[in-house]
Amino acid sequence: MPTHADGQWWQHAVFYQVYVRSFADSDGDGIGDLDGIRSRLGYLELLGVDALWLTPFFTSPMADHGYDVADPRDVDPVFGDLEKFDLLVAEAHERGIRVTIDLVPNHTSDQHPWFVAAVEAGPGSPERDRYWFRPGPYPPNNWTSIFGGPAWSQLPDGDWYLHLFAPEQPDLNWANPEVAADLERTLRFWLDRGVDGFRIDVAHGMAKPESLPDMDPSLIDQSEILHENAIDPRFDNDDVHEVHRLIRKVLDGYPNTMAVGEIWVKGDDRFARYLRPDELHLGFNFRLVDADFDADAVRTAIEGSLRAAADSTPTWTLSNHDVVRHVTRYGDGELGLRRARAMTLVEFALPGALYLYNGEELGLPTVELPEWALQDPVWVRSGHTKRGRDGSRIPVPWEGTEPPYGFSSNADTWLPMPLEWASFTVEAQLEDENSTLSLYRHAIEIRKSHPAFAGTEIEWYGAPAGCFAFRRKGGGLICALNTSSAPVPIPPGEVLLASEPLVDGQLPPDAAVWLV
Ligand code: GLC
Repeated sequence: MPTHADGQWWQHAVFYQVYVRSFADSDGDGIGDLDGIRSRLGYLELLGVDALWLTPFFTSPMADHGYDVADPRDVDPVFGDLEKFDLLVAEAHERGIRVTIDLVPNHTSDQHPWFVAAVEAGPGSPERDRYWFRPGPYPPNNWTSIFGGPAWSQLPDGDWYLHLFAPEQPDLNWANPEVAADLERTLRFWLDRGVDGFRIDVAHGMAKPESLPDMDPSLIDQSEILHENAIDPRFDNDDVHEVHRLIRKVLDGYPNTMAVGEIWVKGDDRFARYLRPDELHLGFNFRLVDADFDADAVRTAIEGSLRAAADSTPTWTLSNHDVVRHVTRYGDGELGLRRARAMTLVEFALPGALYLYNGEELGLPTVELPEWALQDPVWVRSGHTKRGRDGSRIPVPWEGTEPPYGFSSNADTWLPMPLEWASFTVEAQLEDENSTLSLYRHAIEIRKSHPAFAGTEIEWYGAPAGCFAFRRKGGGLICALNTSSAPVPIPPGEVLLASEPLVDGQLPPDAAVWLV
């Protein structure tokens, strides 16, 4: 547990996202599960993370790999059962690791009993009022699904229903009070089992304008995952804040719990609204995901993030299960890895909460999978024009020299694992001082224990073109980044950690350093 930071645990925590399907498989079906996670808790403790975020493990037909929830208060048999969940939470807590879980309030699965009943009950029924049904003959507006294609599908009886994601993910109607009451039940169900918080899926999505106005036609082809903007009536409607107030009210009755929202909202003011004192504790901030490996771009992203969280707590993320992993974004191969290591030190030097994505501590890239292996609804819905997110969801390689690298006893893993990943395994990196895993372990340990990380404000130094340096005002930590093509002198101070060895006392290109 942190020794010097003030306030609530989540304000400075290192969260670790476990993509449950891909972390560790205990029963040999080639798909990760809850017992698999439990068997690797020792690793997570060694890594030093404070809390887990588990992606959906609820009952689901898996049209979107669990983000299509058929029963939000039970565990899908693929992942285990409630007893296994309770064991996982208990053992994680024993090791001082908190457990947060996904919550999917925007939509359900089309196999959820509510939707099944709505289809059966027919047009105009109260069952249909829990979702967005509208009569035909035409779809009510021009909205498109984030995964591609129209956001409306028609039933044989002529009604259309709304799905901002796959047709198997009908959007809930939050104007119907049963919807809120059910979410409250779900929150309490998991809080009573001991979870420490929630990650709210599509937290800017639940409310829709009753009049269902058309979206700006220029956005129609931009069905990239959740890039949002003010002229898009599908997202960031004011009523969504009522949902967050409800969530907060419930959480306030459970001490030390928290919620983080997935908020793809541009504009600092709009973003900050989600973090008002009676709403979410944290908001995912994707500015570092969007920034190129360029000192000016990264600085702009940092400054914007700090502005948007000026009255709350900033969060930092480089990768998750929906985006291209940062190693690959920065250039893939050696160069991408070098830059990723540098950005890790930048991210870890910043005040606030961090969200790591499983496998990034091993330097995993996004993999170009063969078409036969692709499963993501983005691939399916885009008519195979977009490859989707599978390449960032490959199972974690633990040990050994060939697939499945200890992930499973079954070589037929749900996504194929590359033949050339032997050097990425935990086993290969654990004892190697220069490995990416060692860099993460050192960075987490120093960040947690060194007084230089105190305080929440930073100040910028002047720096050569293509470089920046900032200082934590409270504790005095200095972080310098070099995105130029030449080595640069470093600010005075004692080196705490560097992403690459210094060259004649200078910071080489594509590297970062911490000093005190
Ligand atoms: C969020 C999730 C993504 C999922 C989508 C629909 O963006 O991160 O994986 O597909 O919501 O639930």
